[in-house]
Amino acid sequence: VTVPGEAVLVVDCAEAQPAWRIPDAAVAAIRASAPAGWRVHVVSAPTDAMGDAPPPPSDEVLAVMPVARAYFGFGLAPALAARAGAALAWVHSGTAGVGKPMLELAARGVTVTTSAGLYAEPIADWVLAGVLALWRGFDLLPAAGRAAGVWSRAPWTGAVSPVREAAECRALVVGLGGIGAAVARRLAACGTVVTGVRRRPALGSPAGVARVVGPEALDTELPLADLVVVAAPLTAQTKRLLDGRRLALLPPGAIVVNVARGALVEEAALADLLAAGRLRGAVLDVFEREPLPPASPLWRMPQVWLTPHVAGVSPRRYWERSLARFLDLWARHAAGVPLPGAIDPAEGY
Ligand SMILES: NC(=O)c1ccc[n+]([C@@H]2O[C@H](COP(=O)([O-])OP(=O)(O)OC[C@H]3O[C@@H](n4cnc5c(N)ncnc54)[C@H](OP(=O)(O)O)[C@@H]3O)[C@@H](O)[C@H]2O)c1
Repeated sequence: VTVPGEAVLVVDCAEAQPAWRIPDAAVAAIRASAPAGWRVHVVSAPTDAMGDAPPPPSDEVLAVMPVARAYFGFGLAPALAARAGAALAWVHSGTAGVGKPMLELAARGVTVTTSAGLYAEPIADWVLAGVLALWRGFDLLPAAGRAAGVWSRAPWTGAVSPVREAAECRALVVGLGGIGAAVARRLAACGTVVTGVRRRPALGSPAGVARVVGPEALDTELPLADLVVVAAPLTAQTKRLLDGRRLALLPPGAIVVNVARGALVEEAALADLLAAGRLRGAVLDVFEREPLPPASPLWRMPQVWLTPHVAGVSPRRYWERSLARFLDLWARHAAGVPLPGAIDPAEGY
């Protein structure tokens, strides 16, 4: 039942996976923070976001969506966007990516905000863990040797040792938002010299970034990079940003990290360069197709650390951050002021 003039907030965050599920305390905090004239509908039906796919909407959320003034969920499924009524003014996603339904709503004038930046700290830890493990050779004992208990130092001490110190390496961090900046800070603390790539270099260098360039400089920067970290959003401009031609510009022995979206990197070309020994290794959380098909050669390469789109998991801190961001945005929205970080449909993020 809706009361005329009443604004309805729909909270659709009962994630099936406990690490993402909204805790009772956060639900209570949202209810307690409702501005005057707002009613909160907390959807109790479970939702289950899988990688880039927004969860299939429950019957419960489909029923309430037509009256929503604001919607808070993990992404936005096309079927749910299609149920939005004329009252819908704001969509907030607990994920960082921007799907097509969100872009379409933004183009129609709905304010759309995301959790860009919110995952920066755990993801930067994940990047550092993967890269340091490769530089220091944690993958070098062959599986067969381990199973048989063979003590072999040759992979580290041989003439073609791939072992490196962080402080002798140069990194190219593509995307200098929340994630890129947090990665740069950590790498710089280890002595790695960091060059950053961002769409608007005039916005400057976050701490730890020695130099900032625009995307047009990629071809001249890649040959200088011992490590490239992809942390830019998927947009029309960034699709296949690292295609086969650009990956081949990396020096022999370089490492490729992708924490953004699979479509930014040409995966087959990456797998070929890894199989040929041209690249030292890769650290991948996202893939062109998710789930990564069992036939992908990446599964079976010891020099590839791969995780199933979970680099941002932080069971103890996610909701603390997400709740704080949501409540701040809700208060601003209710006060009629512009929301920081609202996506620009022309740019796609
Ligand atoms: N693996 C995961 O679970 C996971 C979790 C969170 C996020 N992500 C992905 O990572 C992306 C980045 O996340 P974030 O939180 O760091 O986002 P963010 O804070 O919005 O930062 C995006 C950065 O990318 C830059 N950028 C945009 N277009 C570019 C281009 N054409 N070339 C180079 N740089 C470009 C932006 O440049 P300006 O600063 O100049 O605008 C900005 O620095 C997200 O869009 C999402 O797809 C993945």
